[in-house]
Amino acid sequence: MKIEPTGESCGAIVTGIDLMRSLAPSAVQRIRDAWLEYHVLAFPNQKLNDDGLERFAEYFGPIGDDPYFEPAEGKERITAVERKADEKSRIFADSWHSDWSFKSVPPAGTCLLGVDIPPKGGDTLFINEHLALKAMPDDLRARFDGKIGIHSARKSYAEDGKYAKGKYGGSMRITPSNDAYKTQAHPIIRIHPESGFPGIFAGAYVIDIYDEEEQEVAEILSALSLWLSRPEFIYRHKWEPDMLLLWDNRSVLHKATGGYEGYTRLLHRLTIADDASYYNK
Ligand code: SIN
Repeated sequence: MKIEPTGESCGAIVTGIDLMRSLAPSAVQRIRDAWLEYHVLAFPNQKLNDDGLERFAEYFGPIGDDPYFEPAEGKERITAVERKADEKSRIFADSWHSDWSFKSVPPAGTCLLGVDIPPKGGDTLFINEHLALKAMPDDLRARFDGKIGIHSARKSYAEDGKYAKGKYGGSMRITPSNDAYKTQAHPIIRIHPESGFPGIFAGAYVIDIYDEEEQEVAEILSALSLWLSRPEFIYRHKWEPDMLLLWDNRSVLHKATGGYEGYTRLLHRLTIADDASYYNK
């Protein structure tokens, strides 16, 4: 197995391994170490079917439960990220986020498998949260150090959210619900439970900051988002057909991009649950 860093803010390309075969414990450990070090791993040229995708994910933890989605046709645990060639709806997941950060135990990782990849566009962007925090000026950090972010899915998945029926109209099998109005607190700066490095846990699901005035919340979130989206913290992942991507939701934010009008884009996705004991301290 060969693991080559992208040389960007995060990410590595893993070759010389066939993920359709079962993996030796030593190979799983190397992948886990690389996942913690590079945060995003791309495995090109994998003829992986959905069973193989589930088996691969389960080396790293139990498969997570994905709220507000129906599974892909005929599947139980896999969802489809899909946009048809003639679709005019907004791009799904086009703002920076960490998957399901509004859960009490958000998923450790996400796997995305390229099934139908357009010849141009559709890159997935990642922000290295550790790097962004390390490079942050003290005065900006002081504005939210020790503060608690309030996460909620309401802006996206509530019945009046951006994916509401009649508003979104795309091919994703989204099931909006007012359950999304629930909130969940997580520290904005948090220590990665496995690597021990501090990072910024923010993104689109943060709707408030505990014990802060509305105006201050708006200013902090806007300054934070401006800082995080500096080019030096971003890795632009370019897809190929038969490519699997595994990322760490505890150290990167990500977002989808467009630019493939006239082409279908289809990826199969699942999340990897985290260890609840990290959150019950
Ligand atoms: C996602 O956020 O899971 C989707 C990313 C993408 O479509 O590039």
